[in-house]
Amino acid sequence: MRISVIGCGYLGAVHASAMAELGHEVIGIDVDAVKIAQLAIGKPPFFEPGLPEVLTSAMNSGRLRFSTDIADAAGSQVHFIAVGTPQKLGSYSADLRYVDASIESLIPHLADGDLVVGKSTVPVGTAARLAELIESGSGASLAWNPEFLREGFAVQDTISPDRLVYGVAPGDKGEHATALLNEIYATALAADTPLVITDYATAELVKVAANAFLATKISFINAMAEIAEVTGADVTQLADAIGYDGRIGRRFLGAGVGFGGGCLPKDIRAFTARAEELGRGESVAFLKEIDKINLRRRQRVVDLTVGALGDGVYNAKVAVLGLSFKPHSDDVRDSPALDVAVQLRGLGADVVATDPQAIENSRARHPQLNYEESLEETLRGADAVVLVTEWPEFRHLDPVWAGALVRTKTVVDGRNALDPAAWRAAGWTYHGLGRP
Ligand code: UGA
Repeated sequence: MRISVIGCGYLGAVHASAMAELGHEVIGIDVDAVKIAQLAIGKPPFFEPGLPEVLTSAMNSGRLRFSTDIADAAGSQVHFIAVGTPQKLGSYSADLRYVDASIESLIPHLADGDLVVGKSTVPVGTAARLAELIESGSGASLAWNPEFLREGFAVQDTISPDRLVYGVAPGDKGEHATALLNEIYATALAADTPLVITDYATAELVKVAANAFLATKISFINAMAEIAEVTGADVTQLADAIGYDGRIGRRFLGAGVGFGGGCLPKDIRAFTARAEELGRGESVAFLKEIDKINLRRRQRVVDLTVGALGDGVYNAKVAVLGLSFKPHSDDVRDSPALDVAVQLRGLGADVVATDPQAIENSRARHPQLNYEESLEETLRGADAVVLVTEWPEFRHLDPVWAGALVRTKTVVDGRNALDPAAWRAAGWTYHGLGRP
């Protein structure tokens, strides 16, 4: 199948590479010439485990090409839209300008029978509007095929997704779309991947509902952490105990500094904004509470750190371990870790931050922080250590080794990633989130 992928950011670059790896002929298109130049030499413009290998192998096979010219989409039968939908400045709504621009620029290059497939996360109702636009300007039609990949596991999630969802038009158009998508995803379907074929609105909602549920799960356990903090209970044991109930499940019950990234925070906000437009604001009003609980946990880590610094925060050296919004990523969009580092710096602390992958992206956003590649140098002379992204190298840090480097053995474990008993045994004052 000849495929074009419009938008070569996180979603698009991974999708284009994975589709070529599965045997399709793919052209990846983006307006960003720098990004395209990097991809064209096999270098992803962001850190994603496994992507360089798949990208190189797909390029070597001759099945994957990149271009900045939308006219190169002509000749493909299926066109994936994978551009970003960030939060609008000054509002909670999603900014659809890139989706709209990509569709408008694509329409003149569409042939009869082509299928445009939306992958971007959009407010419910967008697909129906875009379908009209596409059908009035060409002989092509639209399907909506939300993406559920996780950063850090993006290649694996794209090649072997845990489910596929097609939002299609009724009747013949829908059947045509389903047939094309089944051909594209033949490998996953042959492996019995669950498939839901539905309408546009359901497909759009599946995506935001999934992210809203995940955000709710995290904020739920963080709310329990707040209660644990005033009662002396241990939220990690509580999560284990409720997680054994198969109806609840332990995943995404990791209490800590909360969720960040380019998806969960902006998706729950865009969902509340869209629900309000639809006159159903009250249905998802709880998501505002989910957002507030989440943001409070960042403040909690800052307060714990300030409280732990006996001689005051001003000029105290604080070693911040982690900057990315989660491990195995260099993404610092709405990162709780970076937020905590910036807040502590704002209070006058001498913040030294380290991260295995995210220093460059952090420095571009916050040049005022001190960044240090070496974990040893980050810890040296610290008055407090704050762990905010649970990279394996931080999780497995030896408290005896670290204790010999710092000035004061105080640790704030913002991800409940360390073993409190081991750290205390090595002479540290340990502060977790929602656990004694
Ligand atoms: C999320 C969803 O998990 C994907 O399914 C979805 O496709 C993606 O958004 C998207 O919409 O594109 P991602 O943003 O990569 O994926 O990150 P997650 O793994 O969901 O983690 C989100 C945040 O929650 C991270 O900051 C993580 O540290 C935090 N988290 C996660 C917790 O605080 N506790 C947990 O137990 C789990």
